Amino acid sequence: MRVSVSEAVERLNSGDVVALPTETVYGLAASLDYPKAIQKIFTLKGRPQDNPLIVHVASVEQLIPYSSILPESFRSLADTYWPGALTLVVAANLSKVSEVVRAGLVTVAFRIPDHPHALEVLKLTGPLVMPSANLSGTPSATDAEHVENDFGNEFPVLNGGACSKGVESTILLWRDTKWMMGRKGGIPVESFEALLGYLPNPVSSESQPLCPGQLYKHYSPKTKLLIGPLPQSTPIVGFSDRNYPPSHYLYILGRSDDSQEVGKNLYKILRRLDQDKIVTAWVDMDFPQAGLWSTIRERLTKAMAG
Ligand code: TXA
Ligand code: MG
Repeated sequence: MRVSVSEAVERLNSGDVVALPTETVYGLAASLDYPKAIQKIFTLKGRPQDNPLIVHVASVEQLIPYSSILPESFRSLADTYWPGALTLVVAANLSKVSEVVRAGLVTVAFRIPDHPHALEVLKLTGPLVMPSANLSGTPSATDAEHVENDFGNEFPVLNGGACSKGVESTILLWRDTKWMMGRKGGIPVESFEALLGYLPNPVSSESQPLCPGQLYKHYSPKTKLLIGPLPQSTPIVGFSDRNYPPSHYLYILGRSDDSQEVGKNLYKILRRLDQDKIVTAWVDMDFPQAGLWSTIRERLTKAMAG
């Protein structure tokens, strides 16, 4: 069921769960004031209880009461990248952010999304938790229709069109004296080097559960995704500017020189494979390593592992 901005606000302010658009992916939103609605999100998604939620806000001022100590560089990262595809994990004000939101950690994740509808809603509701609006383990939703496919046509969705980024936010975690990278995302990690004076290192798997979400199955369609030699007549997930053997059906991610476009189409294509009941598909992984391509590669690799 499609709802307007004011209907979304009304529902969220009375303890309902509503799907909202952001520039990365659609999110399932609930107000921090409604623990039951927050719990309902875990149930709806089939999300493990030890996977914490990102708190979304409309301004830095809105998040101050929910954090404890903010590092100096927090402000410069926020000023440079927000609203945008960056999530910052810092020490939480434990009395204001429930254990369910933090999944028992002592930290909290914040993001200001770059979508006019989401910002309008957040100004009127205050902080909202918002995990991606998909069933746990499956490709995220980048369109209102994707949300309806996962949660049914009666589920309230604020339609904001197709997400412009199409991949989730990059997560940086503050650890003692430096930022570390918890998840690759819509902003390439290389871009933080100029501002921070160093490249944030990835959180190693030994130091989990610093970023618990990374441990789980993710982004996977039912279709089995293959790399290596191209089997006969198997559909291809690839690029519009490449010459593949003509006997293969082609699912087009975009041009091989346009990572923005490919990022935007990625989950739509993974979802289309399932809609078309494709059993196996071959993925063209011949693209650059750096920048947004690195995020796309990581998502495709996880989609294959599923
Ligand atoms: O782009 C996005 O970030 C989207 C849109 C809706 O904003 N949201 C999103 O939420 O991707 P979700 O729940 O699908 O992924 C959130 C990730 C998980 O991997 C979770 O483990 C991590 O953020 N996370 C949340 N709070 C954390 C914390 N306190 N410490 C470490 N990781 C945290
Ligand atoms: Mg998710």
